[in-house]
Amino acid sequence: MNILVLGGGGREHALCWKLAQSDAIAKDGGKLFAAPGNPGIAECAQLVSLDARDHGAVAGFCAQNAIGLVVIGPEAPLVDGLADSLREAGIAVFGPSKAAAQLEGSKNFTKALCDKAGIPTAAYVHCTSLEQAKQALATFAPPFVLKADGLAAGKGVVIAESEEEAREALEEMFGGAFGEAGAEVVIEEFMAGEEASFFALTDGETVIPFGTAQDHKRVGEGDTGPNTGGMGAYSPARVLDDALVAETMERIVFPTVRQLRKDGTPYVGVLYAGLMLTEDGPRLVEYNCRFGDPECQVLMMRLESDLAQYMLAAASGALSALPEPTFAEDTAMTVVMAAKGYPGTPEKGGAITLNGAEDTGAKVFHAGTSSKDGALVASGGRVLNVTATGPDTRAARDAAYAAVEKVDFPSGFYRKDIGWREIERS
Ligand code: AMP
Ligand code: GLY
Repeated sequence: MNILVLGGGGREHALCWKLAQSDAIAKDGGKLFAAPGNPGIAECAQLVSLDARDHGAVAGFCAQNAIGLVVIGPEAPLVDGLADSLREAGIAVFGPSKAAAQLEGSKNFTKALCDKAGIPTAAYVHCTSLEQAKQALATFAPPFVLKADGLAAGKGVVIAESEEEAREALEEMFGGAFGEAGAEVVIEEFMAGEEASFFALTDGETVIPFGTAQDHKRVGEGDTGPNTGGMGAYSPARVLDDALVAETMERIVFPTVRQLRKDGTPYVGVLYAGLMLTEDGPRLVEYNCRFGDPECQVLMMRLESDLAQYMLAAASGALSALPEPTFAEDTAMTVVMAAKGYPGTPEKGGAITLNGAEDTGAKVFHAGTSSKDGALVASGGRVLNVTATGPDTRAARDAAYAAVEKVDFPSGFYRKDIGWREIERS
């Protein structure tokens, strides 16, 4: 079978790397395509130039190349309804419809769904004007959690320590600091606890757990400084033990999938629940409608089952026929090497030499690279995801950093303390 993966970051490199090992592709001489991909992905898939915003062009490519499954990596094309357009054209897709992708595309949609289905999450008020938002502050205690309603690449959330700070942030949000995404704002109760990520695959009806992870969102060591898309991650997240996973499935994930089906907008793909592990059990912080990046990289390093088989089953309503997927007992860790300036304006064009970083079994996923005159250069904020496994967190960390140290990337930087929480615990 031929498979097309859309996207060109570290998450998509990890997905392609795993899919390329799949029997579903190999068995009948099938091929893996990626659009637009990147130089790392080019080692395991054929790159094609397709604009995901041009639904007709993607459907046309699928028809011409007998694509049996499309995997949509990032959230933007999902929220934009690409999965709907492809399904209308009769193509199997791993990824939710536009309506179901609102779980990530609109904070208010998710909050309303949680209300309907009784899912534990922070209390909230949805505000459509600055005046209303300022008044609503009085009903919350500090710290205040303020969120731009739409997609804002993980940067639309402000946690304000004082009411004055909150008012200023609201003025900026309604003033257009997050563009369209800030035209509506959600104010939330602050939840104290440790955060962890939980993944589940669903075909709209059957739901299966698909691993746990934790990432480091802040740019600086000790989890300080501005938020990023994630500077490193590890899997499994041992704080999310079997009992908490069962509780998360029961109280959060099953009710969500059930409610979406009841509303006539069944969810197909991977559901990524950002959780706060509070004194009262796991509560939902947010949903994402795709794999985490870089969480996907560590999940794929541990996944033993055939990824294509599970994605195809999710896309075709056949998940109930498969056994639970298996993951290695090992811990996987990924360290993000970013370009100086990230998460502000990253320096572009910096030279990268891998110097045999993969020789000891580590895997270097490309997140923001391109080739220039046959050499590898940085072309994004997060540039490389150096990923390794080990029997425990320390071993995984030592292996990942040993590989990081081999990489020559003078205009890059990385955090030296990925996994600190887990290592302190062990
Ligand atoms: P989000 O984009 O909704 O994931 O929010 C980004 C980050 O803000 C989360 O990863 C949390 O660290 C923090 N956050 C969001 N909502 C809350 C909340 N209600 N209570 C505490 N922290 C939150
Ligand atoms: N690493 C966080 C995310 O993918 O949203």
